[in-house]
Amino acid sequence: MPELTFQEAVETRRTVRTFLPDPVPQDVLERALDEALRAPSSSNLQPWEFVIIRSETVRRAANAVCLDQLPVRSAPVLIALVAHRETWRRNRDEILRTFEARGSLRPSMGSYYRRIIPTVYTTGPFGLLGPLKRGLARIVSLFRPTPNLGTRGDLRVMVHKSTALAAATFMLALRAEGYDSCPIEGFDPWRAQALLGLPRGAEVCMFIAVGQRAEGGVWWERVLMPRDWTVREL
Ligand SMILES: Cc1cc2nc3c(=O)[nH]c(=O)nc-3n(C[C@H](O)[C@H](O)[C@H](O)COP(=O)(O)O)c2cc1C
Repeated sequence: MPELTFQEAVETRRTVRTFLPDPVPQDVLERALDEALRAPSSSNLQPWEFVIIRSETVRRAANAVCLDQLPVRSAPVLIALVAHRETWRRNRDEILRTFEARGSLRPSMGSYYRRIIPTVYTTGPFGLLGPLKRGLARIVSLFRPTPNLGTRGDLRVMVHKSTALAAATFMLALRAEGYDSCPIEGFDPWRAQALLGLPRGAEVCMFIAVGQRAEGGVWWERVLMPRDWTVREL
């Protein structure tokens, strides 16, 4: 069961760079994953995938892909968090099927997922439709508020945004149970893609090293930017 309040979890979550070797109990990991999978996502399309690296061989290769950083080497658990650009159709169908089965599919929702989502997520052969859609949206935006109708680059931003929210939820959920993490962006993205055998349109958003902090495992004191740099009212 969670040991910390939300405020305590936020306050005491720190990036940990040296972990104790003790394993992370499976139930702790499962609960943190359950909570992470409830993170908000763009159009509820949940473009993420948590890959728990169990195989020793893959783990050794993953450590190298993460530049042999100490948090990665010392953590008992390493997770690759993947952002998928091409799972939208499958996930959209699952949403529609679920609502239909529950008898609660509203027409507005049906047309949103059947018409608007494909318009946003389809970028055509070689992504060529993307710049056209974006250009068109930019022109219409001169006359009325218009959403960005995505290039491949825009879609990458979209799926990484949602996936990063799942990462944040996961790390806070772990903290609430007294466990620690280190998000890892310092890795070779091409080798990571090859190691995990990722399909087209999928990229590692970040690795997350998980475990319990060793003494001295938090290397630096927390530094916060001045509040008026990071929050403003208009
Ligand atoms: C997207 C992202 C990528 C990061 N990549 C690394 C990394 O590759 N190696 C590392 O040691 N820390 C990494 N960090 C941890 C940050 O350095 C850390 O969050 C920051 O210094 C603030 O410290 P705190 O998390 O303890 O508050 C990353 C953090 C984020 C959010």
